[in-house]
Amino acid sequence: MTLPNINPTSTKAWEKLNQHYAQLKHVSMTEMFAIDTSRAEKFHIQWNDFLVDYSKNIINQETLTLLQDLAKEVNLKSAIDSCFSGENINQTEDRAVLHTALRAPQNATVLVNGQNVLPEIFEVKNKIKGFSNEVISGARKGFTGKAFTDVVNIGIGGSDLGPAMVVEALQFYKNHLNVHFVSNVDGDHVNEIIKKLNPETTLFVIVSKTFTTQETLTNSETIRTWFLKSAKHEDVAKHFVAVSTNIQKVTDFGINPNNIFPMWDWVGGRFSLWSAVGLSISLAVGFDNFDDLLKGANEMDEHFKTTDFEENIPVVLALLSIWYNNFFGAESEALIPYTQYLQKLAPYLQQGIMESNGKSVGRDGKPVNYQTGTIIWGEPGTNSQHAFFQLIHQGTKLIPTDFIGFVKPLYGNQDHHDKLMSNFFAQTEALLNGKTEAQVKAEFEKQNISGEKAAFLLPFKVFTGNKPTNTFLIEKLTPKTLGSLIALYEHKIFVQGIIWNIFSYDQWGVELGKQLANSILDEIHDLKVKQHDSSTEFLLSHFLKNK
Ligand code: F6P
Repeated sequence: MTLPNINPTSTKAWEKLNQHYAQLKHVSMTEMFAIDTSRAEKFHIQWNDFLVDYSKNIINQETLTLLQDLAKEVNLKSAIDSCFSGENINQTEDRAVLHTALRAPQNATVLVNGQNVLPEIFEVKNKIKGFSNEVISGARKGFTGKAFTDVVNIGIGGSDLGPAMVVEALQFYKNHLNVHFVSNVDGDHVNEIIKKLNPETTLFVIVSKTFTTQETLTNSETIRTWFLKSAKHEDVAKHFVAVSTNIQKVTDFGINPNNIFPMWDWVGGRFSLWSAVGLSISLAVGFDNFDDLLKGANEMDEHFKTTDFEENIPVVLALLSIWYNNFFGAESEALIPYTQYLQKLAPYLQQGIMESNGKSVGRDGKPVNYQTGTIIWGEPGTNSQHAFFQLIHQGTKLIPTDFIGFVKPLYGNQDHHDKLMSNFFAQTEALLNGKTEAQVKAEFEKQNISGEKAAFLLPFKVFTGNKPTNTFLIEKLTPKTLGSLIALYEHKIFVQGIIWNIFSYDQWGVELGKQLANSILDEIHDLKVKQHDSSTEFLLSHFLKNK
């Protein structure tokens, strides 16, 4: 079975949503809150350790009903079932999309080409567990008999961003191993990492699903050359392990077949941290914490798969996002975690969201006639308040924003946490209500500002408010809640891709730049500029003359 192929703009719900938008576009949320005091009660979802309040959106019950009708008209439920049951929903690559199977319990059955994949998943999980335990305990040693102190993850895109984000997010749970990430083909990046390392005590984890990615292979070769300045060829086997689907290429690189952690083509790179791609996570925080991360994701999978759309967190959030993207014309969304630990969440989700849904051809092979994709960006609060919040509050663009906060801090420093969270609540309230002329005038009176000065300042001090936000109040940042949070956004991506009638699991757009870079590299090596547009020729000639 293939995914449904329905242009969302041809549905009845879309037409009604257009009419509904015309009624709601000038409605003020502040007024809606004043009229209906049970708004927060109605528009929130409590699930496990998550409280998701979506009442501060420009919606009413009818909006939600129409958006859910849209989801029903495009057959979202059957698409969810197709995905979880291992159908080849990545149709342009003819593959299943089964990152969810990686976090399923051992007794589950997920069939790929008639074969249950759970036994092989658990075989690899056991290998990750055994390997992590040996490295962490010091039982596994380097070429001079010393225990490992440092781990370097060499990968890019999905083979870097997920592990890097989670290791950073879970550093409270970390052991003694120092974990580094090398991704950019920029030689200065790898050199800055190498200078911190001792080859005798460093383990290198090369992560590349294809094992053909230029950046990862170049960095791996540079690191191996550096390593061989102090060690012998046979020592490579002790210090280099790989995660890949391409066993032949990994073996050709010189990695011992016992040190290969397999993955599968039904796991997309940007959804792969749950596989052996997460090896550096397991090394950093121990296998049990890695497993808890997977359990948290699995709980979100069950919630997504089995909960009615009205109470289904990823579905509700995806629909709200469609509401702003396709009806209000919002161009981007911000994601503001109120914890420094999640500083890499936005860059991580940029790949997940923008590589998946940055598509302009529908599942019918024709250009879409509506907006798809979401530009996602963000930084932790409160830092971001002092950086770009001005534009969210008083700029000309509508930027729906997710606020992610935690009830409990990890070190128990209540004074800091109360201050942090007071900002968290204050921002969503300010974005909702803004500040009226009357309030500004009252402030002026208290400050003895009057006359021309007051008249001049007044328009600049008024905030229109009516800026939509979702608030996630989560009990505590743990491996499990983090797993649920990441899975939540993964499912939001899926729902939006289904509604936009696009294929979310390929990434052909990344290929063109790669192809051109390879042919330009040949020109750079040959010191000969071939035919390009005049700008590219001019720039290349300047580079070759001066390099
Ligand atoms: O950016 C394109 C991409 O194919 C991503 O989807 C992927 O995560 C990344 O490159 C790295 O690929 P690989 O794991 O095969 O090295």
